Amino acid sequence: MNSNEKTYLKTFLSVVLVFVLQLDLLAQSEEKKIEDLINQMTIEEKVGQMTNIAIGMILEEKGDAIVLDYPKLRNVLIKNNVGSFQNVNNHAYTLKQWHEMINEIQKINMEESRLKIPMLYAIDAVHGANYTIGSTIFPHNLGIAATRNLEIAKLSGEVTAKEVRASGIRYNFSPVLDAGRHPLWPRIAETFGEDIYLVKQMGLSVIEGYEGKNLKDVSHVASCMKHFLGYSVPNSGKDRAPAYIPEIMLREYFLPSFKAAVDAGARTVMINSGEINGEPVHASKYLLTTVLRDELGFKGVIISDWEDVKKLSTRHHVASSYKEAVFQSVQAGIDLCIVPMDMDFSTYLVELVKEKKISEEKINASVRRILKMKFDVGLFDQPYVEMEAVKNFGLPEYKKAAYDAASESITLLKNDAGILPLAKNKKILVTGPGAKSLTTLHGAWTYTWQGTKEEFFAKDQPTIFTAIKSKNKNVVYQKGTDFTSNDLGIAKSVEMAKGADYIVVCLGEDAYAETPGNIEDLALPEIQQRLVKALSKTKKPIIAVLTQGRTRVIREIEPLLSSIIMAYWPGSEGGNAIADVIFGDVNPSGKLPVTYPRYSGSFTTYDHKFLEEAVEQVQPYKYSFEFNPQYEFGHGLSYTTFSNSDLKFSSDTLTCEKSIIIKVRVTNTGKKAGKETIEIYSADLVASITPSVKRLRKFQKTSLLAPGETKELEFTITSEDLAFIGKDLKMVTEEGEFDIIIGKEKKRIFYKN
Ligand code: BGC
Repeated sequence: MNSNEKTYLKTFLSVVLVFVLQLDLLAQSEEKKIEDLINQMTIEEKVGQMTNIAIGMILEEKGDAIVLDYPKLRNVLIKNNVGSFQNVNNHAYTLKQWHEMINEIQKINMEESRLKIPMLYAIDAVHGANYTIGSTIFPHNLGIAATRNLEIAKLSGEVTAKEVRASGIRYNFSPVLDAGRHPLWPRIAETFGEDIYLVKQMGLSVIEGYEGKNLKDVSHVASCMKHFLGYSVPNSGKDRAPAYIPEIMLREYFLPSFKAAVDAGARTVMINSGEINGEPVHASKYLLTTVLRDELGFKGVIISDWEDVKKLSTRHHVASSYKEAVFQSVQAGIDLCIVPMDMDFSTYLVELVKEKKISEEKINASVRRILKMKFDVGLFDQPYVEMEAVKNFGLPEYKKAAYDAASESITLLKNDAGILPLAKNKKILVTGPGAKSLTTLHGAWTYTWQGTKEEFFAKDQPTIFTAIKSKNKNVVYQKGTDFTSNDLGIAKSVEMAKGADYIVVCLGEDAYAETPGNIEDLALPEIQQRLVKALSKTKKPIIAVLTQGRTRVIREIEPLLSSIIMAYWPGSEGGNAIADVIFGDVNPSGKLPVTYPRYSGSFTTYDHKFLEEAVEQVQPYKYSFEFNPQYEFGHGLSYTTFSNSDLKFSSDTLTCEKSIIIKVRVTNTGKKAGKETIEIYSADLVASITPSVKRLRKFQKTSLLAPGETKELEFTITSEDLAFIGKDLKMVTEEGEFDIIIGKEKKRIFYKN
């Protein structure tokens, strides 16, 4: 190193040191301010910080106007010291309405409260800033997972964060990190699918997009990992129903996504409203404190779900009174309670502290975390809506981000005889309940909780029908049926189909969220199937477009369909993306993030055990069983073909110190540009806990490959990638043989400790 280089290095190091020292000082001064505040706070003020109230308690929406009820607001905010609010009452607000409402509440808070601790506002912006009119609406998480594109996942998080913060809100109740392993469950669309590795990778990317590196930055918001733990597999498949999950399974399939997000620094976590093995999670000291705090080392805020503390008494019957419910949940580890519509939580908690049933130290620890979060999101620097954030709303590039997400999510399930893509001059009948529906493109949590009110949607947004029509004038429409039960002119659709070259039938589910989305039967409603059966009599090729939050069973009509497009709930750009796939302007590249069941009673996931594989018994009784889904996890066709070649493993022996590098060359061997996803699975041949037939360990999507173009992808497999939860409930990688599966290729490797 010459002297110039030395001087440069010294200067560089001293700048870094000053920066680190400043950060440290800042942290110290924040810590001090937090302690000073805690020392000044009364028990009532502390408990107020632990209370979150739904905005509906203090305002009314009268037509388009938001009317604050000032006496109620002052009662909640000033008399009861409430520290945070959330949500909308019924429907989305304009940017201006958000700003006025939040600033007004904050003004009263900052002028009239004793300690002037800024109020925190939270929202469910689960696929874009879905409670702000004019925001960019992305596909739901299930569609995001189908893209297998982590850049898209991160960008969807970034755009959402910018538009949420521009709305004046700094805390987002998202993302769902539950693995979607029960196909009936009405929140499958909010998950990143059934595989825990996929959930983990997608979840981490979205959280990175939300939180960035610094929450004071006006482009980011605090995230919330939902819903800790084991919410997504209720036995009945109904929302908020009991689950029975052995601990070994909890740790294998449900904990890893939360652990990874905690390690990545996610700020808050919301608790599962359900119960596991007879214990409501809101009352589980084991899960909230022993596992989440002590074992995972989570330092952020633990927030209850909606009214779930009270429900320990009213629904779960583990507490004899609301007060007892407050005791149980706070003792278990809840820091912040979404009450959300009364002051009783605070009253009881104050009483419990005064009666010395709950220690003030415990309360202080919760308040410390909540205040720290308020500091982190910059509320102590600027409690009011930040004008620098507002300019990030509705930028033109967001539309492209939503379009890319929707088009990469679309999963081509079937394409017999290469019917798709269609030429743009053919006569097309567009029919079915989804054809002219905006709500089925957007699904849950869009401008309203249930997402069913089209009056809030942008007027210029295309439906599937209008998007197809914008590309091909030779198109006619007839609804045929509604989503659930009514014949709205099936005969007329059939009549019109006779004059068409192709039929595009738009099927699936209208929007729903949470419990109202419970169903008794996974089959696509009979009326929609009847439409397809009637149309098939015309012998015209039928292309089905499925816009749905979960995989509704289509076994009976599947043979009648030439092509099937699974579009999930694709968001505002869904119509355009679907039309572009139909006409080949987009080459589909989505891959199923869940197993698509063939029967209503088939709940087996792709990573099932060997015992669930094909068996045939001939003597003395003849029967057979096989895992035979309609479409497998990872399935998704393209308009081009790809081949994998030159598969290379750096070694066939893996140790805990030495990983294996796998290289594979992917070539577009067809005639159309396209993207391909390579998935790497492992199969443990023998293990002390029955292994899955295969488990996803890595995936990567290529960039757009031109015809004839080749790209080499590289993957690293470590011992951790082959680990599982052993009998002692600890992660272990056992010595022995494993198959590594890439497409049709399989290679045996050996793991040595
Ligand atoms: C849902 C949560 C949501 C909360 C707050 C609950 O009903 O389960 O996912 O974040 O409401 O709106």
